[in-house]
Amino acid sequence: MSRRLLPVLLSLGLTGLVCLGVFGVIGCGEGSSSAPDTQASIKVSEVGQKCLDCHREYTPNIVLDWEGSVHATVEVDCSSCHGADHTSSADIHEVKTVTADTCAVCHQTQFDQFSKGKHALAWASMKAMPTTHWKPMELIDGMKGCGGCHKLGLKSEEEIRELKAQGSNHGFASCDACHTRHTFSVKEAREPEACATCHMGFDHPQWEMYSTSKHGVRHALKRDGKLPESAAAPTCQTCHMIDGDHEVRTAWGFLAVRTDGLAPYPGEDEEWWKDRVTILQALGVLDPEGKPTARLDVVAAADVARLTKESFDHEREKMLGVCSDCHSDAFAQGELEKGDQIIRQIDRLMAEAITIIAGLYKDGVLEKPENYAYPFPDLLTFHDSPTPIENRLFTMHLKHRMRAFQGTFHANPDYALWYGWSEMQQDLTEIKAMAEEMRARHAQGSQ
Ligand code: HEC
Ligand code: HEC
Ligand code: HEC
Ligand code: HEC
Ligand code: HEC
Ligand code: HEC
Ligand code: HEC
Ligand code: HEC
Repeated sequence: MSRRLLPVLLSLGLTGLVCLGVFGVIGCGEGSSSAPDTQASIKVSEVGQKCLDCHREYTPNIVLDWEGSVHATVEVDCSSCHGADHTSSADIHEVKTVTADTCAVCHQTQFDQFSKGKHALAWASMKAMPTTHWKPMELIDGMKGCGGCHKLGLKSEEEIRELKAQGSNHGFASCDACHTRHTFSVKEAREPEACATCHMGFDHPQWEMYSTSKHGVRHALKRDGKLPESAAAPTCQTCHMIDGDHEVRTAWGFLAVRTDGLAPYPGEDEEWWKDRVTILQALGVLDPEGKPTARLDVVAAADVARLTKESFDHEREKMLGVCSDCHSDAFAQGELEKGDQIIRQIDRLMAEAITIIAGLYKDGVLEKPENYAYPFPDLLTFHDSPTPIENRLFTMHLKHRMRAFQGTFHANPDYALWYGWSEMQQDLTEIKAMAEEMRARHAQGSQ
């Protein structure tokens, strides 16, 4: 397109001309048809107009996205978020980094809520894992693997400086995780698909579990118009972002461990408590003698486990309140208790498997790796654990244990049973067989 033509076209009203097909390349798709009523409703500052004029050529679909956003109607233009210091291809390095602080200037409420929730800690918790730095940096700081999802966590100025020094130029905004740039649409954020990219797959397949549960199926049918608009059908947001609250947290959390001041809670099943201690030892939070380690501070800082009964009960009450909007109290209570009971029973299986491998360390069949603090399996080394038997333990914990209890809470029978419980039984059988074989080989070797 000729640069000289642009101002003329603009004065004629660009959207109209685009739709008449003057620019063959751009067309008149979704972006422009869902745009606020007319071009007239778009408000832009003087400097913002300069950005638009040039970016219509370089990044036309970003401009279209913005034009379709509520921001375009309230004079929040390119320069409101990216600053006004870059005005040509020669000074692109002058573009201001957009972070959650940029949004906070105008959306303090959502920022404050978000900052108190677990999403804000996502970058820190990823970095806290003991072998994160062993992976290709593309997968971490390059935001392709772990970092691709955990980038929604807040980063310090120092962290952003370091990332930029390594060549990263995006992934700093946090707030674009559910309402993506440059539409920043509240409608998009309200749909369960907004969560799907991250809450899926190996160790947290909430998308798969939800979308095939009765809850998800009803939501899909409602959107298709097969069920009436009034049909009750919860989304992820109904249960986890009550009244649009951006502070997300659940009672059990990802790892489903609670420490409650490192003692059994009143009336608790004695065996369950012992099993949980074994799991906390394998998470490196308690040492093999059962005393708290330095890692407990890391876990506390990243809010990975509920440390008090109050914090657990607070989240549980909120959730019960949501279920009770559609179900009876007794039904809701009963369903959540089944989830708790599944955790008790999968903890039994986990503790047995951990104890078998800890025994191999104790009896010198397995040697302590140099980077391990204790001669004990370490679940947080993930797939970087040193032996096949420990790798099987990792899969049992992070893949199959997760699916068993998450499937129960998300009303998905197949995830609870076949992808969860059944797989854990198979893991345990195999770990037992591997351990026996290792012991036999060890005995032979030392004869
Ligand atoms: C004269 C043309 C021109 C003007 C005016 C202009 N830009 Fe750009 N801008 C560019 C070009 C060219 C690029 C690089 C595009 C590419 O890499 O494909 C760019 C890149 C960017 C980027 C991406 C930077 C990155 O690291 O990926 C942002 C954000 C941006 N511009 C915002 C603005 C804003 C805000 C304004 C107005 C204050 C503005 N631009 C004005 C031409 C311009
Ligand atoms: C409400 C804030 C906001 C407004 C307004 C805004 N941007 Fe952005 N922009 C962002 C965010 C957030 C990112 C992603 C930053 C990151 O990943 O670290 C981004 C990234 C970009 C990028 C680089 C990423 C890519 O996909 O290529 C370009 C180019 C860009 N914006 C151009 C523009 C232009 C042009 C406008 C005006 C039409 C604009 N932006 C308006 C917030 C905004
Ligand atoms: C300069 C002020 C300003 C900045 C900066 C800003 N916004 Fe907005 N935003 C507004 C205003 C004003 C509205 C319209 C009124 C409202 O909904 O609060 C709005 C609306 C929204 C909406 C609702 C859109 C809809 O579909 O109803 C979302 C979501 C949003 N902004 C997200 C963001 C995000 C994310 C950022 C940072 C990347 C950001 N905003 C930066 C002022 C701003
Ligand atoms: C597909 C997106 C995705 C990828 C890739 C990913 N994670 Fe996560 N991670 C998540 C989600 C979502 C959660 C929360 C799940 C839940 O609570 O069920 C999570 C939870 C965690 C937690 C627990 C946080 C807590 O407070 O409970 C840690 C630690 C973690 N991830 C580290 C990593 C590391 C290290 C990697 C790479 C080896 C990684 N993640 C890869 C999305 C991802
Ligand atoms: C986990 C997904 C998610 C993230 C991350 C997220 N939002 Fe939202 N946002 C939502 C949802 C869902 C809604 C709709 C809430 C409702 O139903 O009213 C929303 C609504 C909004 C609105 C519109 C509020 C209104 O009443 O119209 C603004 C503004 C907003 N978010 C800003 C932000 C800012 C700023 C951040 C970063 C600090 C952020 N969001 C991060 C999911 C998210
Ligand atoms: C009907 C309500 C409901 C819906 C819908 C729902 N969840 Fe959940 N979710 C729960 C309950 C209940 C728990 C367990 C709460 C507890 O620990 O007490 C949970 C737990 C979680 C957890 C923590 C780990 C886990 O899985 O147990 C994450 C993360 C999560 N949900 C994400 C999602 C996502 C993403 C969606 C949509 C794809 C979704 N949920 C849909 C009710 C729901
Ligand atoms: C960009 C990736 C991403 C998106 C999109 C995303 N999440 Fe998350 N979510 C995460 C990560 C990563 C964590 C773990 C945070 C941590 O390390 O503490 C998490 C944690 C959670 C938790 C807390 C679980 C616990 O430990 O108690 C809930 C609940 C949750 N997300 C719900 C949602 C919902 C609902 C949506 C959609 C509206 C959503 N998330 C969108 C990545 C994402
Ligand atoms: C917005 C309404 C709504 C909310 C909130 C809601 N549900 Fe449901 N739930 C339904 C509907 C409708 C069905 C489908 C009933 C059927 O299968 O006949 C259903 C089905 C179920 C089922 C499948 C078993 C069955 O036949 O009833 C379970 C389990 C369940 N819900 C548990 C919960 C729990 C636990 C919560 C809270 C964490 C919850 N629901 C929140 C509406 C809701």
